[in-house]
Amino acid sequence: MLSKTAQNLIPSGIRKISDKVNERIEKGEKIFNLTIGDFSPRVFPIPEALKKEIKNAYDEDLTNYPPSEGVMVIREAISEYIKTRGGFDYGTDEIIVGSGARPLTYTLMLTLVDPGEKIVYPAPSWNNNCYVQLIDAVPVSVETKFENNFVPTAEELKPHLKDAALLALNSPLNPSGTVFTKEELKKIVDLIVDENKQRAKENRKPLYVFYDMIYWILVYGESKHYNPIELNPEIRDYVVFIDGISKCFAATGVRLGWAFGPKAIIKKMSAILAHIGAWSPKPEQVATGRFLKNTAEVDKYFDNFKSELFTRLNTFYEGIMNIKKSGYDVDAIYPQGALYLTVKLNLVGKKTESGKELKTIDDVLGYILEEGKIALVPFYAFGAKMDSPWFRLSVGTCSKEEARVAALLLKETIEKLK
Ligand SMILES: Cc1ncc(COP(=O)(O)O)c(C=O)c1O
Repeated sequence: MLSKTAQNLIPSGIRKISDKVNERIEKGEKIFNLTIGDFSPRVFPIPEALKKEIKNAYDEDLTNYPPSEGVMVIREAISEYIKTRGGFDYGTDEIIVGSGARPLTYTLMLTLVDPGEKIVYPAPSWNNNCYVQLIDAVPVSVETKFENNFVPTAEELKPHLKDAALLALNSPLNPSGTVFTKEELKKIVDLIVDENKQRAKENRKPLYVFYDMIYWILVYGESKHYNPIELNPEIRDYVVFIDGISKCFAATGVRLGWAFGPKAIIKKMSAILAHIGAWSPKPEQVATGRFLKNTAEVDKYFDNFKSELFTRLNTFYEGIMNIKKSGYDVDAIYPQGALYLTVKLNLVGKKTESGKELKTIDDVLGYILEEGKIALVPFYAFGAKMDSPWFRLSVGTCSKEEARVAALLLKETIEKLK
């Protein structure tokens, strides 16, 4: 008999969909796979300078155990990187390195939350429900709204914070690709600071914040990534940030992430991570440290990468706006961040050319896939309601030309519906 955790574990809704699509692609079918939050290395390779540093590090035989908090060169480089690009002021003893954001998220929750305590997170959001289940905490999922770009507001969160142990935030947000405004983030941060002042008076454990900023460099146009500590420095004692190279350097398979926060928390996270053993490989640590210090190469990569991602997001955005103009109840949020576009396809009730009615979101998804050869992920896979007409469209696997063709195909496919 397996453990209850193993038996009950929620599978990733996104994986379920993308695995099926990949199976069909492997069998030779041409499908635009806009499901996964990943990059095709053919379209988006990692930075050339990082690749060289990784090869060099293996040539230098840096293949023994790294320290559990990460080698010094990478922690120094991260300290500089987050300071110069985001104003995050953290020393090397306030930073821990792991094999991506995932083990650090798990470690952070193990460090701050006891079984049975509450973790508050927005819906839709990425995999919070799974991590909550892994540590046997109690999920408090707060539904967000299109009017607020699916980003949680202070007003929505407030009623749930009184007895919570952790608030999980993420901006730019997976799945919507949208970001906190400065005003809203400040309201949330102030709320947490006030809550903790009250808890201190009552001698209660504080409310901590897990702030996942894995996409923070990838913001477009007017959108910005705000540092919550600059909005209210008193939050610093209660927040742990998670970041890494997976998304901002298209390096999802390289496996290197980091967390930064108060020294005492980071130290405990390091002790827990040491048992899990989910360090990033030492050659990758040294190489990434050296690469991050090469600011000219990093800047060059970001300039090109962001512009390439934005072009694709905008192609799809304009495509959706064209369909909207022809009278269909579809919509999209103008690209703000990450590699995702939020798309509304309110097509339940429409009929296909053969007269079949689309009765559910899965019918809509299936129709777009079979007829248009385009695969998307519905927001329900991120904890939104099953009848939510919103979808995530991810551009990490398509070339600019493929994005153009897929946007046209989507238009043709939808406009066949009556
Ligand atoms: C918000 C968010 N955090 C973390 C991750 C995972 O990051 P990593 O690959 O570094 O574990 C993802 C992946 O999709 C994500 O969307």
